[in-house]
Amino acid sequence: MSLKTPKTILLGTGYHVPEKVLTNFDLEKMVDTSDEWIRTRTGIKERRIASPELTTSQLCTFAAQKALKDAGLQPEDIDVILLGTITGDALFPSTACYVQEKLGAVNAAAMDVQAACAGFVYISTLADALISSGKAKHVLAIGGELLSRIVDWTDRNTCVLFGDGAGAAVWSRAPGDSTRGVIDTYLKSDGRLTELLCSYGGGTNTPLAQIVAENRQFITMKGQEVFKAAVNSMSEAVELVLARNNLTGDDIDVLIPHQANIRIMNAVVKKTKIAEEKVYVNVDRFGNTSAASIPIALAEARETGFIKPGQLVLHVSFGGGFTWGALLLRE
Ligand code: UT7
Repeated sequence: MSLKTPKTILLGTGYHVPEKVLTNFDLEKMVDTSDEWIRTRTGIKERRIASPELTTSQLCTFAAQKALKDAGLQPEDIDVILLGTITGDALFPSTACYVQEKLGAVNAAAMDVQAACAGFVYISTLADALISSGKAKHVLAIGGELLSRIVDWTDRNTCVLFGDGAGAAVWSRAPGDSTRGVIDTYLKSDGRLTELLCSYGGGTNTPLAQIVAENRQFITMKGQEVFKAAVNSMSEAVELVLARNNLTGDDIDVLIPHQANIRIMNAVVKKTKIAEEKVYVNVDRFGNTSAASIPIALAEARETGFIKPGQLVLHVSFGGGFTWGALLLRE
């Protein structure tokens, strides 16, 4: 198997989730649902919910500090902070700037990227582009969400799905002869499908007071349509990346899919012929954490030894927009 020489390596990862656990049984007391329905339709058993004083930037900072420690770097070493979120601290400035201040990453440029659940694949692709073009040496990529703040806790269609958390990765310039690192990336969007998964709160299309009066500030989703698009788009991304690198599903050691629904993950591996035991799954414990989902899974999989050095790891994600993408990495 001869693959492109990577220019960007993964130097460190970290994640942080709030302590408070909200179980399906807790949700049974809040809306007309059951543990059985949630588990069988989504694979989720529990999710983490942040206490009111916690901010997205704080959650991201905790994750970033762990990733920097894992990478053996100081905050001052970071050239660029890229942050994927749909639940930033403010409309502006960027949450990345708040994280920069909290970390003391005084030499960095910082910005947010809004690609919903595909956020981490998007920012990691940008990190690879910045590093391989010589514009940055160390890029901190963070996905962090406080989805509990934009969920309608009276809507059983959505409130059972989401959770809070953050994950971070340090991407760095690879030595010239490296076989480890980013081998390929693929990004795609379809802006014709914006209405299927969205939240209007904080946007400028309609005055906020009107949005709140109409109770439209929360996440809304056409579940079945999103489900089908997620399976098709994630499978397309996996197949495309495999094909253009002359690989098959057998060559992949670990698949890290967006953790939205175990049935979506199962359908993707069936379509793309990747063995189920190669898929890292934590949706049962954290639910769907949008942009934080892949970096939390990645950090956890590396920490627990599910991912081993030298393995071929494929990330694949899908989210509102629609946005989707994949990233192929030699660990
Ligand atoms: O992160 C971005 C990507 N997001 C996703 O990938 C999510 C994609 N969508 C999904 O994961 C699934 O569509 C859901 C988990 C959201 C829903 O599962 P489903 O199998 O598609 O269920 P459904 O929406 O077709 O609803 C089936 C039934 C409905 O009742 P009726 O109309 O058949 O009587 C719903 O009202 O299940 C009902 N239902 C519930 N029942 C108990 C919906 N939510 C719940 C609930 N508890 N929480």
